[in-house]
Amino acid sequence: MAVLVLLTTFVIFILTYSISTQSPLIARSRNFLTVFHQKNLTGHNYEKKILFWTPMFELSSEELAINHRKCLLQCDVRCAVTSDRREVSSVDAVMFHLRDLWVGGIGTNIFVPLPGYRSASQVWVLYNMESLAYLQGDLNALNGYFNWTVWYRKDSTISIPYGQVSDLNKTEIIAMSKHLETSNFFREKSKTVTGMISHCKDYARRYKVINELKKYIKVEMFGDCYGTPCKGNFTECENLLKDYKFYLALENSICKDYVTEKYWGALARNQVPIVNWKNISDNIVIPNSYINIHDFKDMKALANYLNIVGYVVLPTFPTGDIREPDIRVR
Ligand SMILES: *[C@@H]1O[C@H](CO)[C@@H](O)[C@H](O)[C@H]1NC(C)=O
Ligand SMILES: *[C@@H]1O[C@H](CO)[C@@H](O)[C@H](O)[C@H]1NC(C)=O
Ligand SMILES: *[C@@H]1O[C@H](CO)[C@@H](O)[C@H](O)[C@H]1NC(C)=O
Ligand SMILES: *[C@@H]1O[C@H](CO)[C@@H](O)[C@H](O)[C@H]1NC(C)=O
Ligand SMILES: *[C@@H]1O[C@H](CO)[C@@H](O)[C@H](O)[C@H]1NC(C)=O
Repeated sequence: MAVLVLLTTFVIFILTYSISTQSPLIARSRNFLTVFHQKNLTGHNYEKKILFWTPMFELSSEELAINHRKCLLQCDVRCAVTSDRREVSSVDAVMFHLRDLWVGGIGTNIFVPLPGYRSASQVWVLYNMESLAYLQGDLNALNGYFNWTVWYRKDSTISIPYGQVSDLNKTEIIAMSKHLETSNFFREKSKTVTGMISHCKDYARRYKVINELKKYIKVEMFGDCYGTPCKGNFTECENLLKDYKFYLALENSICKDYVTEKYWGALARNQVPIVNWKNISDNIVIPNSYINIHDFKDMKALANYLNIVGYVVLPTFPTGDIREPDIRVR
């Protein structure tokens, strides 16, 4: 029954979670800047300056700077960003994206040229969102260069998880309870289980899990791994998925604190995420908001459970009063 509780959580969550997939960079950069925010520089006539030294995947350092400048317009911190390497001696922080450090290709130890200047007060920041399992290259070669890490992990200097929860204010709670009166997201969905995976080979062996599950319940997969990539834009791909009650939010590797947009995206689509993580604490995700495959003896047991949960009858919520519904199973 725990799963049903999440439906209230879901909706409360939807408002707070503005999906960042369209501009992940901006969302992340805002997180990054909170570290300066916490220091409350607003009262000081002082400006922090950040230099983007490397590109980030397909984004050039100049594009990174432009995106961050846009983001800063919405902040009340006095920060400046640049991609002009000649400014290296005057910046407070230099950002490096891990994957883009290896210009000679992963495993070659041929780095992008590093700044020649370094003051004792300047911090070099290593940014990465991949899990530990997928950190390629010789990391020892990077020892001693960086002062801070920006990563999803809680123990990084600046932790930027793929998603997080925040409280609704009073106005939002009222709007949400109104919304709940008229909507029943779960019932509105007509299909059962889906997922989207581009890489078949992974440490978590998702492919095996899904093949086994498919024997007992209808699973419709998308993505390159299944020969059905979504070629559309973000909205079109979301539309492909949103009519399913359950989303296989299986991570490609089981790592500390590693919960990605697969989980948060499922919640944002009002789906119940099916996860494969282990030992993820409740302060990283929403308690009772998911079904974990490891809680079942085998995939047959999971499929049976999904069939039950998928057909629970949900009552409508009373006005202005969010509480655990009285659940009947058909
Ligand atoms: C930041 O500092 C300014 C000036 O010292 C002060 O007015 C403001 O309330 C502070 N903001 C926070 C969030 O502490
Ligand atoms: C950053 O790391 C370098 C190299 O280890 C060190 O020399 C420098 O003092 C550190 N800077 C800060 C601000 O911690
Ligand atoms: C509640 O949050 C909304 C943003 O979702 C904001 O526009 C509104 O001003 C907030 N209301 C209060 C009372 O803080
Ligand atoms: C996505 O594609 C659809 C149809 O091609 C179009 O109507 C819509 O405006 C596009 N959305 C975005 C965000 O580009
Ligand atoms: C589980 O996570 C906690 C903290 O989140 C950690 O202290 C503990 O060592 C982890 N256990 C395992 C088996 O990884």
